[in-house]
Amino acid sequence: MDNRAIGMFDSGIGGITVLKEVKNLLPNEEIIYLGDTKRFPYGSKSKDTIIEISRQCIKFLISKNVKLIIIACGTATSQSLETLKEEFNIPIIGIIEPTVRYIKESVKNERERIGVIATSGTIRSGQWEKKIKEEVKNAQIINEEAPLLATMAEQGWISNKVAEYTIKEYMKCFKNIDKLVLGCTHYPLFEELIREELKNNTEIINTGTKVAEFIKKYIKDMNIQNDESNKEYKIYLTDLDNNFNEIAERLLDDNLKTKIEKAEI
Ligand code: DGL
Repeated sequence: MDNRAIGMFDSGIGGITVLKEVKNLLPNEEIIYLGDTKRFPYGSKSKDTIIEISRQCIKFLISKNVKLIIIACGTATSQSLETLKEEFNIPIIGIIEPTVRYIKESVKNERERIGVIATSGTIRSGQWEKKIKEEVKNAQIINEEAPLLATMAEQGWISNKVAEYTIKEYMKCFKNIDKLVLGCTHYPLFEELIREELKNNTEIINTGTKVAEFIKKYIKDMNIQNDESNKEYKIYLTDLDNNFNEIAERLLDDNLKTKIEKAEI
């Protein structure tokens, strides 16, 4: 047993889609979430910058005495996880491995067509394609950068006309695919529009659900579950002057007044 919290971070609101799934599946776990709103967006930054800012986020979470860290961000997972795993003596889990594990278990044929939509930095890293092909050798991967979506999500533009047109445009290359990986944690906010646009049997993969399943098994295997019931979550932001609260409250269906604090990093 280990009653310390699980730490998570993202550049902003995106990781809340992961927090939501982890909370649903593991209500007894306390969660400390860091939204690095001061340095949003991550998706357009260089690999070196992403490594440096991820390092700072991890140090902040370690200072809060967490037992493990989830990188609830596709950009930071794809560009910094391998480096930072070696630097810290704490389990660090990103969004790619749990999702690829699920893909491996669920593919119906070796030549499945799998779409990946993510930030420019994530697509440039090639990590999704590499990791999926390690497990499903003949999978056909269709990559698409969607640099506008995370910014729109931070603005709360997730169901207006602009969102509709933008999703329509980004979905053009995903006709007739079997699975679509939402490779940025901001994108589940557009899931309804994406579903409407694809209008077929494409399976849309929200990485948060796969991370939550992975963590559930992991903490059980490692015997580090929290043995108390219904623990809370706490949110730290590096900049408080933004739309975060409003969107997070909608997503989590919760009043966040007492749960958000400024993080000095
Ligand atoms: N939510 C993030 C991701 O999964 C970051 C988006 C951004 O800051 O550009 O990639």
